[in-house]
Amino acid sequence: MAKLIVHADLPKNTIDPNIYGHFSEHLGRCIYEGIWVGKDSPIPNTDGMRNDVIAALRKLQIPVLRWPGGCFADEYHWKDGVGPAEQRKRMINTHWGGVVENNHFGTHEFMRFCELIGAQPYVCGNVGSGTVAEMSEWVEYMTFDGESPMANWRQENGRQAPWQLSYFGVGNENWGCGGNMRPEYYADLYRRYACYVRNYGDNRIFKIACGPNVDDYHWTEVLMAQAGRFMDGLSLHYYTIPTGNWGNKGSATDFDEKLWFQTLQKTLYMEELIQRHDTIMTQFDPDKRIALIVDEWGTWYDVEPGTNPGFLYQQNTLRDALVAGINLNIFHNHADRVRMANIAQLVNVLQSVILTEGAEMILTPTYHVFDMYKIHQGANLVQTDVLGATYDMDGQQIDQVSASASVNASHLNISLCNLHHAESVEMVCDIRGRHFAEISGTILTAGKMQAHNTFEEPETVKPSAFVNYRVESGQLIATLPAKSVVVLRLV
Ligand code: AHR
Repeated sequence: MAKLIVHADLPKNTIDPNIYGHFSEHLGRCIYEGIWVGKDSPIPNTDGMRNDVIAALRKLQIPVLRWPGGCFADEYHWKDGVGPAEQRKRMINTHWGGVVENNHFGTHEFMRFCELIGAQPYVCGNVGSGTVAEMSEWVEYMTFDGESPMANWRQENGRQAPWQLSYFGVGNENWGCGGNMRPEYYADLYRRYACYVRNYGDNRIFKIACGPNVDDYHWTEVLMAQAGRFMDGLSLHYYTIPTGNWGNKGSATDFDEKLWFQTLQKTLYMEELIQRHDTIMTQFDPDKRIALIVDEWGTWYDVEPGTNPGFLYQQNTLRDALVAGINLNIFHNHADRVRMANIAQLVNVLQSVILTEGAEMILTPTYHVFDMYKIHQGANLVQTDVLGATYDMDGQQIDQVSASASVNASHLNISLCNLHHAESVEMVCDIRGRHFAEISGTILTAGKMQAHNTFEEPETVKPSAFVNYRVESGQLIATLPAKSVVVLRLV
């Protein structure tokens, strides 16, 4: 038995809808096949983008989409991806499989895709191998309304009005694939490049600096000290790798309870990372003006057998659903600092919400968690305390239950994950400051830890109504089955 205290009488910060952001890179089959099939494709599409994927993503209410990378961003030259498609440059995607990138999906196509799914664009610029002029011209191309070389060129290429561009990243992983820089050097480059990322007309750009690799606290300290006043956001990248070993990350579908435990334990490390980076940021920014943007997170396994190692294609099981639920709960609980997060990646790469094969598409367990949790978008966080349940394995101990809750005018939303692979847990809920008359709930679980959806059996893991609760003397008692994600809505 465990106790859940929900302080519904003490609303805190708004849960920024952008915590539900996604990331799409020119990597493997994410953009090509996953989104873009071309206007002449037999796969039903709108302006070259597949209709099934658009419909599924619209349902998720994705607030923001990051593009074009990732490591790809720091070798992407945007001018190669505008103008008549047949004249666009063909380049080698050196980071991801050495395949030919024909640039058929460029700025216009990305912006159109964002319109179609209802997401705001978050464009990541090239610091590693691009120039200041190139970055500056890209912003002019996208956002300038009036006569200028880049705005004229945009219009020649078929787009009259400028686009609204709210989020711009000044480089990606510049401590690694984006140029192997030291923080002192990048901080200076950031100041220079960001200076020419202009606000044209009414368009206001939220500038995001490249932040630390996982636990590189020195990077955060230097960036905040040297460049803090020029940025609106600082990114953080952290992936869950079950074994902790990049050379042998583990299979997406073939794992035992020890690896299940280890995967969730490594996911919980996100809490410490956010706390520690936030503490450093707060030294320089006590009012929390600068957001921590977790713009790459999720599971990273060995690729599916027989697939291109550079394409990062992996299956997605109930374990991934738990990873998503835990991470989203952590982000909610740090809503004062974490104001955007982007799971990697949208389709067919790493912890995707969608997988495609030719004309077919399936939704992953991670998709369902995003769908169940979306009621938290824009609601007010309220504090939750979980007392009394632990999950033990080989002398290691973690919390058995991950929780977060939010309120809006009429609802109290509670999301709970039972991390234990075998044991259910009875949650006695002490809900302070709210009376409720109606309860509804949704659960995602399955018989096996390794359960996943395939093209042959696409509905092995799907949500269903949660009915395993009772109300005794005005107190809610809910029993969470082993390995489950539950969302409750109280009115
Ligand atoms: O998401 C895959 C890669 O992971 C990204 O390109 C890079 O930024 C990170 O290392």
